[in-house]
Amino acid sequence: MSTLFTPLKLRSLEIPNRAWMAPMCMYSAPDQGPHTAAPTDFHLTHLASRAAGGAGLVMAEATAVRPDGRISPWDLGLWNDTQQAAFARLTAAVRAHGSVPAVQLAHAGRKAATDKPWLGGRGLSADEGGWPTVSASAEPFEGLPAPHELTQDEITRLVGDFAASAERALAAGFQVAEVHGAHGYLINTFLSPVANHRTDAYGGDLQGRMRLALEIVEAVRGVWPEHLPVLFRTSATDWLSENPEDPRQGWAAEDTVRLAKEVAARGVDLLDVSTGGMVHDARIPAEPGYQVPFAERVRAEAGLPTAAVGLILEPAQAEEIVATGRADAAMLGRQLLREPYWPHRARAELGDQPAWPEQYGYAVARRKKD
Ligand SMILES: Cc1cc2nc3c(=O)[nH]c(=O)nc-3n(C[C@H](O)[C@H](O)[C@H](O)COP(=O)(O)O)c2cc1C
Repeated sequence: MSTLFTPLKLRSLEIPNRAWMAPMCMYSAPDQGPHTAAPTDFHLTHLASRAAGGAGLVMAEATAVRPDGRISPWDLGLWNDTQQAAFARLTAAVRAHGSVPAVQLAHAGRKAATDKPWLGGRGLSADEGGWPTVSASAEPFEGLPAPHELTQDEITRLVGDFAASAERALAAGFQVAEVHGAHGYLINTFLSPVANHRTDAYGGDLQGRMRLALEIVEAVRGVWPEHLPVLFRTSATDWLSENPEDPRQGWAAEDTVRLAKEVAARGVDLLDVSTGGMVHDARIPAEPGYQVPFAERVRAEAGLPTAAVGLILEPAQAEEIVATGRADAAMLGRQLLREPYWPHRARAELGDQPAWPEQYGYAVARRKKD
């Protein structure tokens, strides 16, 4: 029996296995009309097929807690009843396959209001459907317009927006809530000294820069039931301190260990450990498992369960990560786009019992067509 296909219990929730689907924006929601930012049949098919494919947890893409938090006008959002009802269809479909539906609550900050990536991903003007962006400080991400620095009142509203969206996610049937604190989006701009030059209580030293993330965690935990888990996705490094030739001061792995302890103390149950996204020109070693050492370090030094993500491609690789205690779960992104039924292949390769949907299982076990 593999470790990859043993359950993982977080609070009272038993997640049937440790091969999880990473959140992936599809830029495919309506950008206007009553169904703006609501999931469609495309999203339903996209997520339900990975649940049928055997992923233990299926995380929906970054879901904006309010309109200006979308990366593009075609992102999902969760701030009204129509969106909530559409998400309820989606969570029911994922649960029908025995998988756990997870939401990723997000605000894109200074990287919002951009075009679809396959059309170039540039900043959109107001005429093209864009909007003014916000950030920790008024400095732009390379190539995008300058954001507005959030005021204290706006921060208070933002924290409330995360809580309101989490309440809606729960009502829509999600069992896991993840706060998106990675990839250069809004929470990440507060954490990283690259983007946070505030002089108030939300800037300065590490404690100040972590304040917004911790307030949002507390707000989401406050509305999320005791028996269900909350996750936090972080960029463990800006990839500046790893490069001795880069003089810029970035967020680094030791900061992530501190953050992990702080979010754990506020009821986060697992850290989803990604990297990057803060500067456009970081040198990132894109080799299989390149982010796993950060998940491993957090798990060892902060004692918090972790998920590893990033170029996890093969069953034996995923098994090694969880079996040797480098992380508690392996998240797959692009490999599950290529191969939605990867977990069924992985079970076979790792010598586990098959777990096909019952509609397929009796048939695929037979070679004859009688
Ligand atoms: C198409 C696409 C969309 C993505 N959207 C998100 C997202 O919504 N939220 C997020 O945290 N990461 C997002 N990511 C990053 C993935 O979750 C994952 O961390 C990354 O792709 C590395 O894993 P992989 O090598 O298995 O693809 C996205 C990646 C891809 C390829």
